[in-house]
Amino acid sequence: MLGGMSMPRPTPMRTLGSNTTYYFFLLIMIPAVTVPMLLHIYMLNDLNLEMPSVQAQDFFQQQHKRGQMELQRNISEQCWRTCPQRINKIYFQHRMRGLGDRLTVIDNLAQIAGYLCAILEVPPPSKMLALEHNNGNRVSENVKWLDFRNLTFLQDDSQAVRGLDASFSEDFDASPVYKEENFPGWLHIVSGKSDSKGLLEDFIRLQEFSMLQGADARTGFIWEIHTTFYESGLFDRLLPPPSAQVQELPGYEDKMLPELQTYYYFHPEEAHTHKRRCTYTNNNPMQLQPTSMALLREALKERVRMNGLTNSIYVFLHIRRGDAIAECDTRIEVIDYFLKCSLNGTETQGKNITLLLGSDEMNTTYREKVMKLQDGFPHVSILDADSLTLEVIKEAATNGLIDASAGFENNNFYNYEVQRTLKRDSIDKFSSVFLDKHRENCDKCTRLVDYFPSVWKKERD
Ligand SMILES: *[C@@H]1O[C@H](CO)[C@@H](O)[C@H](O)[C@H]1NC(C)=O
Ligand SMILES: *[C@@H]1O[C@H](CO)[C@@H](O)[C@H](O)[C@H]1NC(C)=O
Ligand SMILES: *[C@@H]1O[C@H](CO)[C@@H](O)[C@H](O)[C@H]1NC(C)=O
Ligand SMILES: *[C@@H]1O[C@H](CO)[C@@H](O)[C@H](O)[C@H]1NC(C)=O
Ligand SMILES: *[C@@H]1O[C@H](CO)[C@@H](O)[C@H](O)[C@H]1NC(C)=O
Repeated sequence: MLGGMSMPRPTPMRTLGSNTTYYFFLLIMIPAVTVPMLLHIYMLNDLNLEMPSVQAQDFFQQQHKRGQMELQRNISEQCWRTCPQRINKIYFQHRMRGLGDRLTVIDNLAQIAGYLCAILEVPPPSKMLALEHNNGNRVSENVKWLDFRNLTFLQDDSQAVRGLDASFSEDFDASPVYKEENFPGWLHIVSGKSDSKGLLEDFIRLQEFSMLQGADARTGFIWEIHTTFYESGLFDRLLPPPSAQVQELPGYEDKMLPELQTYYYFHPEEAHTHKRRCTYTNNNPMQLQPTSMALLREALKERVRMNGLTNSIYVFLHIRRGDAIAECDTRIEVIDYFLKCSLNGTETQGKNITLLLGSDEMNTTYREKVMKLQDGFPHVSILDADSLTLEVIKEAATNGLIDASAGFENNNFYNYEVQRTLKRDSIDKFSSVFLDKHRENCDKCTRLVDYFPSVWKKERD
């Protein structure tokens, strides 16, 4: 018997309750305070030189261009293997990286965990997020993965990513982290030890084990992964099905095999077929947002609406300086021409324009100069999206909506996540126009009336 098949139930839609609405109003009613400190908004995985494989580099470069991924998948039918219990554990810890990178690993392993009736255990963000994307600082130990993503198993709405087992010491890098004496009789596989065969082989073994596990098993498996995910046979390939013997078991179906998002990146032709594999975690970008993140994003948009012009189109203006300065000329006079030329012709369209400045530049003189470049365009205003984001985060910490001890105001990863709601990959497309001065996206002029024609169309009643 394949781990007891039970009737699946549909995933409920989540709505914001009245207490959250209260927080929301609290957030938007607080008057804006001026925040002189400007953010160094980290850019996702700005191609880390240590990045192990060429495929991984490709993958992240592409994600970067499109904006950070939101783990979107197409669940057309329910396909998952139902688990009578989740006794098995998958643990991952290997180096520190950017947020998108770590979430990619977490998401892929969560699919495998869903399929193998396991939970996923990882160290807290403070142990997994690279210091170099956070001005050289480690994020607070009080930051949780749940502050970034609410990744749940579709089958039972339980959290896919768990904190740590009580038996853990502080040494998350120990190999193994699980002590054999605490788990007598369990199958314990440590991938990344010199004698291990590799993630693919380990997966094949654990798949067999899990498929033959009784519905009420008292011992399970522990799979510790202390090696790179990107160079394994799991990253860009389809997971192999179990043995013919297991496939014969009642309850087994091919469609249960999990879908790894990275596979379809490397095989886009298959991403459009109807025979895609199974998704084990919630994939609705709305549901993936933790409740507090959703409220912060709403508050940020409200702040922009309040401070911007009425009847406005929102334009996210991304100026990347820092280490990209040699690749894209962003001197004030260059930006001045860029804006004048890009905005040329918009003044007769009957719409106001609010530009939202996002930049890693910390020099306040530079930023203030950019903010004044709309002079001469009465229908245009420029807001500093970075300081508005920071304001909203600080207020949420003061109000108790987010953990004040977690230092989110100094957490670039968190700032970036909140601000994404104004960017290209926003869930609700708040901004409709994007102006970039960023590495290879560095046109001298992006005439908005030509590049975004639909935006200027008159609404019909
Ligand atoms: C999702 O799948 C359905 C049918 O299975 C298809 O019609 C639809 O276009 C797909 N949507 C996306 C976003 O891929
Ligand atoms: C996470 O999602 C679950 C299920 O949809 C929901 O019950 C829970 O409140 C959410 N938690 C947070 C912190 O957003
Ligand atoms: C542009 O914004 C100003 C100030 O908010 C407002 O008075 C004006 O009516 C707006 N113009 C349009 C075309 O809506
Ligand atoms: C704006 O466009 C007009 C006509 O298309 C052109 O004559 C003028 O030079 C442009 N101005 C700038 C600053 O690009
Ligand atoms: C800050 O930016 C201004 C304007 O671009 C520039 O003149 C000044 O030298 C910069 N200051 C520093 C410390 O880099």
